[in-house]
This record gives sequence, structure tokens and C-alpha cells, in this order.
Amino acid sequence: MDLAQLTSDLDALAVETAAAIGAAPDIAALETIEVEVLGKKGRLTGVLRGIGALPVEDRPKVGAVANRVRTAIEGAITGRREVLGSAELDARLRAEVVDVTTPGRPIRRGSLHPSLESMAEIARIFGQFGFVVYESPEIENDLTNFQLLNIPPDHPARDLWDTLYLDVPGHLLRTHTSPGQIHVMRTVKPPIRALLPGRCFRYEAIDASHGTEFFQVEGLMVDEGTTLGDLRGLLDEFAHAMFGAGKRTRFRPGYYPFTEPSVAFDVECLVCGGVGCPACGRSGWMTILGAGMVHPVVLRNGGLDPERYQGFAFGMGPERISMLRHGINDIRLFLENDLRFLGQFR
Ligand code: DAH
Repeated sequence: MDLAQLTSDLDALAVETAAAIGAAPDIAALETIEVEVLGKKGRLTGVLRGIGALPVEDRPKVGAVANRVRTAIEGAITGRREVLGSAELDARLRAEVVDVTTPGRPIRRGSLHPSLESMAEIARIFGQFGFVVYESPEIENDLTNFQLLNIPPDHPARDLWDTLYLDVPGHLLRTHTSPGQIHVMRTVKPPIRALLPGRCFRYEAIDASHGTEFFQVEGLMVDEGTTLGDLRGLLDEFAHAMFGAGKRTRFRPGYYPFTEPSVAFDVECLVCGGVGCPACGRSGWMTILGAGMVHPVVLRNGGLDPERYQGFAFGMGPERISMLRHGINDIRLFLENDLRFLGQFR
């Protein structure tokens, strides 16, 4: 081994390696070359092993060539790594591209239950007249559900409310929202404009127009000098907002123990416009609610002096109002939770 031979071996290694680096297809191949040539057991080290056979004065010369070759190879590897690295990054970016213009998956929008939608609309309309929503309990007792509302034990009017009693003695599920009248009168001072929406329960044979569970919205106004005319005017405004401006309305005599006089409030039939049709039983009128002037006994039970205060009350079924507005013919649909039915109210 002489100086010329070693030098030319090193140059050949440099040329060969430079070509291999230029042809390396990816970072992994480049790293293989790096280990093969520059590694501890690599080819450069292999060539330099011949250095010991050289005369002492020649050794630094070979060392200088070897250093030049090593530096050149390292430089070439660094350069190639940058090229390959950015090519790989480009490829990844291209493969993982997200098309932000692709339409998203549609979100399934929920909707209000028609009973709630109806109650919200009722509250919105009466809210414009200053009525405030109150809550009152679903569990009452004989006193609050009946007696304080002027319905004594064994009164025949109790037949109107088939009652579900709890096995907790004295407790029952409210059959109507009217007990809320007593709670409100005992809680807030007149002038009172209260709206009491809530769930009611009755021991009913279930059919298309009767359920054991349903909602009611109770209204109560108490002030000095409140009249039946005020009730009529308010209900007219309500009917026009709910069923259409210009709809005719009427009071019919009714009976409830907690009001005197009591009325039923009718609106011109939506389907036949007053001419007579199956929807309204050919009368031309739809009954919307029961109402009346609060009975003096009830005012007194609410802690108010009937000589000073007068009031009116009304009670309506939001399901019934929803049925009339949307042409629904079976109240059982409101409790079945069939999405095909519920999804129609958006
Ligand atoms: N509570 C009655 C019922 O369940 C509805 C009702 C009628 C409420 C007349 C009232 C009213 O406040 O004045 O049938």
C-alpha cells in the first residue's frame, strides 16, 4: 500500500458515495449509506486502516485527503437529507390534505314537543298582557285540589275529576292546575296576573281525546274592579293571536265550582269557518277553554277580601290547542314519543 494507491481509493470512495447519495430514494436509504461509509466499521475507516503501512511523513497527507472526503460526504448527506425531507413532507401534506370545502354532515336538529311549543306560545301571548309564569306542585291533597276550590267532599262536581290517589295518605296527583290559584293568591299580593302551566293526571279510560297525563295552563287575574268584560277582551286577543286575527269568539254558560259565573270560550272553527263540519261537530265552534269570575269563597281561601278584590280565571289544554292548530286528531300521539310525529313541529 502506498500513498498514491490510498489517495486514489479515497477519491474513488468519494465519487462512488456521492453518486449513491444522489440516488438515495428516501431518508432510510440515505442513513444506510451514512452508516456503510462513515460508520465505525464503515468503508472510510476501512480504507484508513491501510495508513499504518505508510511511511510516517506520508500519513498526514492521507489524513488530509481523508478529512476532505469525509467533509464532502457529510456535506452531500446533509444536502440530500434536506431535499428528501422536504419531498417527504410535501408527500405527506398532499396525502393528508383536508378539503375544507367539503359539506359537513348535517346535524339532526331537535324540536320542541308540541305540548311545550303550545305552552310557550300561550305564555308568549299572555306575557304581552303582563301575565307571569308560576310553577305549582304536581302532588296536592284533597284540600288544595278540591276543597279550597269550593269543591267539598261528596260534591257531585267531583265526578268531573277522576282522581289518582298516591299511597302516601292524603296525597293525590293534581287533576288540574287550578290549585295553583290558591298557591299564587297566598303568595303574591294583587294585582295578580298569573299563568300556571303544568302536568295534570286523571284516572281516565284512554281514547283519542282523553289521556291520563296531559298539560293544562291556568290563568288568574285578581285586582280591584276586574270584570267579566276584561276576561272576554283578553280571551279575544288570545284567540286572535293563537288562531288568526278576526276569528269570531263566543262565551257559552258553563259550570265550575270555583268560578261564578262560569263560561266556556269558543272560537270559530278553523276548518269550516263557521259553516259546520265534522271537525267541530258541525256547530261551527271549537271550545278552547273554561273560565269564569273567581268565586268569592275561592278568593277568601286565597286570603283575599272578595269585597275588595275581583278576579277571573281560565284553564285550557295545550294539547287540545295544538290539535286544533295542527289538525291532530288523537291526543295519544302526544305521549307516544314517535319521532315521525314529533319531528313535524319545528
Ligand atoms: N280546572 C278546570 C278543569 O280542569 C279548568 C278550568 C275551568 C280552570 C274554569 C279555570 C276555570 O280556572 O276558571 O276542567
